Amino acid sequence: MSTNITWHEASLNKELRRKQFGHHSFVLWFTGLSGSGKSTVANAAAKALFDQGLNPYVLDGDNIRHGLNKDLGFSEEDRTENIRRIGEVSKLFVDSGQIVITAFISPFIKDRELVRELLEADEFIEVYIKCPVDECEKRDPKGLYEKARKGLIRDFTGIDSPYEEPVNPEIVVETNKYSIEESVEQILQHLKSKGYIK
Ligand code: PPS
Repeated sequence: MSTNITWHEASLNKELRRKQFGHHSFVLWFTGLSGSGKSTVANAAAKALFDQGLNPYVLDGDNIRHGLNKDLGFSEEDRTENIRRIGEVSKLFVDSGQIVITAFISPFIKDRELVRELLEADEFIEVYIKCPVDECEKRDPKGLYEKARKGLIRDFTGIDSPYEEPVNPEIVVETNKYSIEESVEQILQHLKSKGYIK
């Protein structure tokens, strides 16, 4: 970290913003394999929350890698930096009183736990978008598994780069067993039961 820098407390803080907006601000942190349905469920969940008058924002791996994180690849080091930056961005969203849904593979437990620690306990909700790798490979919506099998993509998660399953996630969504609508409903029910939304 640089020296000679000072933290400034904002007088317009997140408590005031939450009061004004009438809801808590938090992160729904989706994690799962490529093709597991992270983006699809994240966008459907965002739409469902939006339809209830809320203003959620989706941060998506592919999109963020077009801009903010376009300097990063898929080595372990770069994935760690990717998730660290997204964790910091998520924290800013939470501070601004918003609901943020992140859809990153985020394959390493230690990186996800760092984000959890960055936030307050009730601001981080880990959502495991669970789907067996062979089903993800069957879906292969972007043809990436096929390329990885042919050796055209290196360090592909689930093929030649590891995915560490969450140990104790707040929500497990099994996209090979339930529809998108059912998956969204499961997430909304969790948020309601914990008092995050009405
Ligand atoms: S990570 O692991 O969290 O840093 O990855 P993320 O930022 O979510 O980016 C994943 C998307 O990048 C595409 N892609 C790859 N994924 C995994 N491994 C390799 N080597 C790779 N190369 C490109 C892919 O489209 C991922 O999107 P999703 O939506 O997960 O399929």
